[in-house]
Amino acid sequence: LFLNASQTPARKIPQRMFGISFEEIYNSGAGGLWAELVSNRGFEAGGPNTPSNISPWTIIGNETSIFVSTDRSSCFDRNKVALQMEVLCHIHGDNVCPAGGVGVYNPGYWGMNIERGKRYRVTFYVRSLQPIEMSVSFIGSKLQTLATSDIKDEGVTDWKKKEIVLEAKGSDSNSRLQLTTSKRSTIWLDQVSAMPLDTHKGHGFRQDLFDMLAALKPGFIRFPGGSFVEGDRLMNAFRWRETIGTWEERPGHFNDVWQYWTDDGLGYFEFLQLAEDLGASPVWVFNIGISRNDQVDTSLIFPFVQDTLDAIEFARGDVTSTLGSVRAAMGHPEPFHLQYVAAGNQDCWQKNYRWNYMKFYNAIKGAYPDIKIITNCDGSGGPLDHPADLYDYHVYTNANSMFSMAHNFDHTSRSGPKAFVSEYDATGEAGVGNLLAALGEAGFLIGLEKNSDVVEMASNAPLFANANSYDKRQRFCYAIVFDTSKVYGTPSYWMQQFFKDSNGATLLDSTLQSPSSSLTASAISWMNPERNSSYIRIKVVNFGGNKVNLQLSIEGLDNKSIEAAGSTLATLTSSNVKDENSFNNPKKITPVVKALKNASNKMNVILPPYSLISIDLL
Ligand code: AHR
Repeated sequence: LFLNASQTPARKIPQRMFGISFEEIYNSGAGGLWAELVSNRGFEAGGPNTPSNISPWTIIGNETSIFVSTDRSSCFDRNKVALQMEVLCHIHGDNVCPAGGVGVYNPGYWGMNIERGKRYRVTFYVRSLQPIEMSVSFIGSKLQTLATSDIKDEGVTDWKKKEIVLEAKGSDSNSRLQLTTSKRSTIWLDQVSAMPLDTHKGHGFRQDLFDMLAALKPGFIRFPGGSFVEGDRLMNAFRWRETIGTWEERPGHFNDVWQYWTDDGLGYFEFLQLAEDLGASPVWVFNIGISRNDQVDTSLIFPFVQDTLDAIEFARGDVTSTLGSVRAAMGHPEPFHLQYVAAGNQDCWQKNYRWNYMKFYNAIKGAYPDIKIITNCDGSGGPLDHPADLYDYHVYTNANSMFSMAHNFDHTSRSGPKAFVSEYDATGEAGVGNLLAALGEAGFLIGLEKNSDVVEMASNAPLFANANSYDKRQRFCYAIVFDTSKVYGTPSYWMQQFFKDSNGATLLDSTLQSPSSSLTASAISWMNPERNSSYIRIKVVNFGGNKVNLQLSIEGLDNKSIEAAGSTLATLTSSNVKDENSFNNPKKITPVVKALKNASNKMNVILPPYSLISIDLL
């Protein structure tokens, strides 16, 4: 490998080149990154009409002790369904309540992870014609009480908000929240929430999952999907306006693409907040009046266009603007730095796409000329027939083809809009993602790095797999796998870490001379702020089954400037290319970093079979 470290004719990699693409898929958000423990907190998941399916809420007691139903008596206008508990038993008399009382419990999303010493805010709304005496408790899988609080109130004839903080005295990752009573009464409940107090900055993001994202140093975050943006039907698409304001007022909606209910706690505001917390540029994908099965005619599209302009005003308007003031009331007076919007997801082939697109394009550019607009139509093969700042590019293929796609953008026209590779995924592999998939993707990313004059941004998808929810028949590979209490990165996640310092780095001129088509390499120089010094990083993928002796020759760098003591070699590999990480062995395949004591401008490095290495020269 020949490397020219003199930085000529080097070029800068875009500042936001490598980022993440978040989709509400397989409970990535609801039951995942969004730390709300209660599932179906407003009892609306069965729809707005009654009787409503209250699952996964479960009744404690039998027909002689309690009767549970739903009605539309909630104090929240946008979600009227409330739960009614008619308690038939009593503390004494001829129908004594069972020990512990009767009521309802919520198991959360496959069990609530309650941890000893941690505090949880439980909020609910209650009404009763009689004084109430209730217990609110976290109960573990062996029915042990982890935390409990008694609530007595004589005056709840009108809806009243109750808020308590429970501190757990034990741990159990399969717990539930229960509300019980032993007093004959009729009680209505609505909007029951349980949130850990230790979410990231109190912003509602599960800290361990947030940390995984932050460690990737993402340049951008695309949200909220994916197909989730489109919906199978327009009536079920993500509607930003329904996801803002206080959580109790959000109606929630059925995610009909991935087939589950979301309370929309992780709404438009929270996505913008997440981007800010990650130091990433938000990329909002909006619905262009097209779902997977129906679409709005261009002659009727204006309400959708106005809705999108409103969303941008919500994000960017100052506090004196109508929607900027709504954002300010939610606790964020400063505008969010929304600079990128994507018009739909995978919709280019739809008959109304171009016509609808132009209506959005003209309106957005008219009001916000600096916003970059991303079209769904592929511009890599030839000029687009409509204006755009970037074009969306998705690739799902097996690891071998992914690796060979390293040259995909080599011949793309250097003029015209740049590519936003917003979804790439090596598919068709066993499990959730193995080493082979990660190496195929690494080869592809090296190609993107080298073509970063025409590729502006790239992200892997799907980002998260909730182990309780993801569809094992889908051949996706994921970056991060989690359940209610644990998380690990797949080899693809660790592979992406090799690229996290490329954002804004300088791409160096490197040439690989090898008869093998299984090798690919790139080199960057970058400033490591943690060590306040500049590095050269050389990345090489060996996508073949043989060990390779790499002879490295660096021009423009004398040995005096290579401080051997601080140089390192990181290797991502395993004995079997089909190996994966797992909850039992979460770090089986992670980068192994060693000091490179003999670093010099001419050196040999051994590449193990099927490996990704990075050489960091100080
Ligand atoms: O990443 C999963 C899905 O694959 C996305 O929702 C969609 O855009 C793609 O087809």
